[in-house]
Amino acid sequence: MSGHGIPIPMTSAKCGPLSGTAEVPGDKSISHRSLILGAMAVGETRITGLLEGEDVLDTARAMRAFGAEVTDHGGGTWSVHGVGTGGFAEPDRVIDCGNSGTGVRLIMGAMATSPITVTFTGDASLNGRPMARVTDPLALFGARTVGRSGGRLPMTIVGADNPVPVRYAVPVPSAQVKSAVLLAGLNAPGQTVVIEREATRDHSERMLAGFGAQITTEDTDEGRIITLTGQPELQPQTIAVPRDPSSAAFPVCAALITDGSDVLVPGIGLNPTRAGLFTTLREMGADLTYENERLEGGEPVADLRARFSPNLKGIEVDPARAASMIDEYPVLSVVAAFADGPTVMRGVKELRVKESDRIDAMATGLRANGIEVEDGDDWWIVHGRGHGNVPGGAICASHLDHRIAMAFMVLGMGTNAPVRVDDGSPIATSFPIFEPLMAGLGAKISRDA
Ligand code: S3P
Repeated sequence: MSGHGIPIPMTSAKCGPLSGTAEVPGDKSISHRSLILGAMAVGETRITGLLEGEDVLDTARAMRAFGAEVTDHGGGTWSVHGVGTGGFAEPDRVIDCGNSGTGVRLIMGAMATSPITVTFTGDASLNGRPMARVTDPLALFGARTVGRSGGRLPMTIVGADNPVPVRYAVPVPSAQVKSAVLLAGLNAPGQTVVIEREATRDHSERMLAGFGAQITTEDTDEGRIITLTGQPELQPQTIAVPRDPSSAAFPVCAALITDGSDVLVPGIGLNPTRAGLFTTLREMGADLTYENERLEGGEPVADLRARFSPNLKGIEVDPARAASMIDEYPVLSVVAAFADGPTVMRGVKELRVKESDRIDAMATGLRANGIEVEDGDDWWIVHGRGHGNVPGGAICASHLDHRIAMAFMVLGMGTNAPVRVDDGSPIATSFPIFEPLMAGLGAKISRDA
């Protein structure tokens, strides 16, 4: 639901050392996929550790509207009684995906090869984001779309009556587009092939294999080639969702810039297609270690230990790593402000079409807090001032973007004067326990009166 009616202004101020254990919620990408694939399987899928943020709850509501029985058993345990591949009923209402690009794009893919008509909408942020990147390949399967100008929501998709399989080279590095095509391919006969030049998060591939689909991945000179055989009978699964590395990024980065801190963030998914931030932070000189590395539910997992790191250095971030840390650039730019020298981030054009234009949102807020930032179409440079030298004191706009709001709250933990955001309500989309979790570590983040 578009639940951002009442803005929640928030302030973050310098605090004593952060310490303790930060149990961040379940992975958002895996949570969406658990519900959608569960709804497309025959029988009952059990999920533990589901992220109960607004984005995922919108996907749960959507799966119910398509005929799946989705039950919340409490404490992050859910079950989904699926209707089988091609078994979606036509919803009798508009599907509101709230703030979630992942939710809407994956669900569009999942329904596009069924003979049903579905209208999608979202909040002001989602209704401004490009959908042609998904509806273009879905048209190749035989789906038809009517939407607003610029390929934006609200939008109606008429699913294909007689879907044909597709071979599609994804033109932008996007796991959402790749996943939409694969989910559409589930209900098309024959082999659907997706080619991606840069590898993006591979949760869909891993989970489709887990649900019993025939899917192969091959790394070639052309890129990564993923081949899915359509019309499998998906087998229900028991899924333990690992904790989200994109949420872990906030307490980790906060600990790095806060004097004397020592924070443990246990059970974090470290799938290599997601873990680029942590590699980058270590290159900057962060005291960040992986403990107790293990495999859980087919995903690599470790406990992260982050300690105050007073001598961070600005670096040139490897652009080849961009896809594996695409959601983490906002909080990386905050850490970069406390490093010595410039941090250069290139090959990041996709940041301009997230929940907000994240380069613009961060550059504007960082500048208002006394940090020099340069930016261009697909790059930006943050000129670090070094620990203890970042002024702060400004109000920043969160632009209905959870990660922008949280990044500025981390900024305020290290600046000389507190930092405010105009609206922290979007945080609930991905990290509903952000405020109590950070308070438990010792942070001073408060809602303004
Ligand atoms: C996601 C893919 C990424 C990421 C988003 C989650 C996913 O988006 O930014 O938060 O779960 O597939 P793009 O596919 O637009 O890169």
